[in-house]
Amino acid sequence: MILERLVLTNFRSYASLDLEFGEGANLILGSNASGKTNLAEAVYFLSLARSWRTQEEKNLIRFGSEACSIRAYVREGELHREILIELSEEGKRIFLNGKPVRRLSELSRITNVLLFTPSDVRLFKGPPGERRNFLDVSLSKRSNDYLALIGRYATLLKSRNALLKEGGRNRELLEVITEQLIEVQEPIVRYRTMYVTSLNAVLPGVLKDLRGETSTCSLVYRPFVRDDGSFKQRAQKAYQDALEGDLLHKSTSIGTHREDFSLKYNGKDVAEFGSQGENRMAALALKLSPFFLIEESEKKPICVLDDVTSELDAENQARLLAYLEKLGQSFLTATDLSLRGASVYEVADHKAIRRN
Ligand SMILES: Nc1ncnc2c1ncn2[C@@H]1O[C@H](COP(=O)(O)OP(=O)(O)O)[C@@H](O)[C@H]1O
Ligand SMILES: [Mg+2]
Repeated sequence: MILERLVLTNFRSYASLDLEFGEGANLILGSNASGKTNLAEAVYFLSLARSWRTQEEKNLIRFGSEACSIRAYVREGELHREILIELSEEGKRIFLNGKPVRRLSELSRITNVLLFTPSDVRLFKGPPGERRNFLDVSLSKRSNDYLALIGRYATLLKSRNALLKEGGRNRELLEVITEQLIEVQEPIVRYRTMYVTSLNAVLPGVLKDLRGETSTCSLVYRPFVRDDGSFKQRAQKAYQDALEGDLLHKSTSIGTHREDFSLKYNGKDVAEFGSQGENRMAALALKLSPFFLIEESEKKPICVLDDVTSELDAENQARLLAYLEKLGQSFLTATDLSLRGASVYEVADHKAIRRN
């Protein structure tokens, strides 16, 4: 997908903004707190109608305003679409070519944005939740079935935890919910296993280009129970074994909400043994890898790289900038950067203007 034009009204620091973008790299330059990330956030919002910076969507509305909107004109091959997202006190409304969109999956089928932010440099070293989130977001983009499964899992997990909080008095219901929880997790584990395998097919190539050297690397995913044909029995046993502790702690200690993956880099765990540079570039490579899993060129995602160059040394920065040629449309924010062939925008005074 190509984002051809973006119109913001009362979004974050922008009272109004109307920009046309180039099909390759778009550089968004400006001093600190000028509104660069706000603009990147609006682009990312098209992907899942969610921000990576806040759960509180009202924070996206410009101070003093009651509503905001993001209007985007996107192109997929020869197909032109208009997406409108409105946020107000009453909630969020999404329109596609003027028609209301009822399910998020309708939006996520046509828009796809990959994101890399400064905090991602710690993706492998940081807490597992960030890694799971990467898996869930990327997989939800690929499969509406997966999106539905994790939604159902979250609901069941909440019910189970509520029952545990009551001291497990309703043992029968606890067993039923646990059984349903196991059922929904078998396909979740299978999706995750398959996706990690797919990522492993492209990740070494991306990392090689970004590092300028050949290395061996592969993601290692550890399901909470092995899926070797007897998932159900293993899971049932695991929940039985965990029950006493779960009742004591009033929460579910095992399951796909606790899973994790790591990266073996030249034979060793990157979080444990990798240098800072290796960790950063491995995280960047992983977050860009989904780009290469999408075969149809018109459906390739947009890449948003917020302030990443400040996290990379000169050499890695140069390699990343050279690498952008392999990606489709990209958006890079930075205080200062030059890149031949890029469309350049300057952000200041809550406005953004095109400079070339
Ligand atoms: N809802 C909002 N309304 C108005 N201004 C906002 C809102 N949210 C954030 N801002 C302002 O946006 C600025 C930060 O913009 P940001 O895009 O993060 O800057 P940077 O250019 O450093 O990436 C801050 O001055 C902040 O006060
Ligand atoms: Mg910023």
